[in-house]
Amino acid sequence: MNVARLQQEILRLKKEKDVCVLAHSYQAREICEIADFTGDSYKLSVDASKAQNKTILMCGVRFMAETCKILSPEKTVILAQPFAGCAMADQMDKQLISQVKNQFPGYTVVAYINTTASLKTVCDVCVTSSSAVKIVNNIKNKDILFIPDCNLGAYVAAQCPDKNIKLLNGGCPIHACVSVDDVKKAKAAYPGAQLLVHPECVPEVCAMADYIGSTSGIMDYAVKSGHREFIIGTEISIAEHLQYMCPDKDFHILSLKLICPNMKATTLVDVYNCLNGSGGEEIILDEETLGGARRCIDEMIRLGD
Ligand code: 13P
Ligand code: SF4
Repeated sequence: MNVARLQQEILRLKKEKDVCVLAHSYQAREICEIADFTGDSYKLSVDASKAQNKTILMCGVRFMAETCKILSPEKTVILAQPFAGCAMADQMDKQLISQVKNQFPGYTVVAYINTTASLKTVCDVCVTSSSAVKIVNNIKNKDILFIPDCNLGAYVAAQCPDKNIKLLNGGCPIHACVSVDDVKKAKAAYPGAQLLVHPECVPEVCAMADYIGSTSGIMDYAVKSGHREFIIGTEISIAEHLQYMCPDKDFHILSLKLICPNMKATTLVDVYNCLNGSGGEEIILDEETLGGARRCIDEMIRLGD
């Protein structure tokens, strides 16, 4: 089937089967086009909880589908591509963090949403890249253990100087690979361009940016900005989406290293197969995990309001 026909079939099937399709902004354009909601990880989790549909189909990575299930346990939540994990979320588990917590008694454990549901059960509050600074500032405790991303954690620490923030050695291998040298090369190639980066990049790269923000933050900034040329320091799909959204502006990728294989794993055929009942994986979480992780996410919503 060609892409347009496949998209038509997907639109028909999702209506017939009452399915809400969510697509993270790192998904391919043809998937974003058939989604009911697109956006960053925070926006998608809120959109999913408000949707009236019985079934949620997540085009993104596993922790995002788990977050939807935690927020909407009564709904059937399907991950469109079961292989789509997240290299950062898989770095730390519940056993490791339970041990680390013993070394930091009295600390509030703040978990980036890019963590497994199981790990969230031993943490106090979740954050996303768009809400991390606000939430950490709103936590009463001065002592914070921020996991797993030491780069996002360093960015938060710089914005929250009153807090005592301890970091672990984790992060996104895709964003963390981008170097100061990559930035120098991109700036030399596009001297008039503004640099917009995700806070998962290393602090030295963030320090060279004109704007630091979540995927949605970067997109909003570029759309509203009076500037005409940008270097995009996050997964390369964002530069592609922006080029369609703002044809009068120019978008360049910061580095070819910024390709997330997990986010690229979902195809339009996967989406179609999920809707016709022959693909995807239903997210099943036991009651203890649902309850423990929900407490962590509810705290994120309370402190982020
Ligand atoms: P956002 O929270 O900005 O959507 O980022 C998710 C992610 O996986 C970034 O690598
Ligand atoms: Fe995970 Fe990094 Fe991919 Fe985002 S870009 S989904 S943090 S591996």
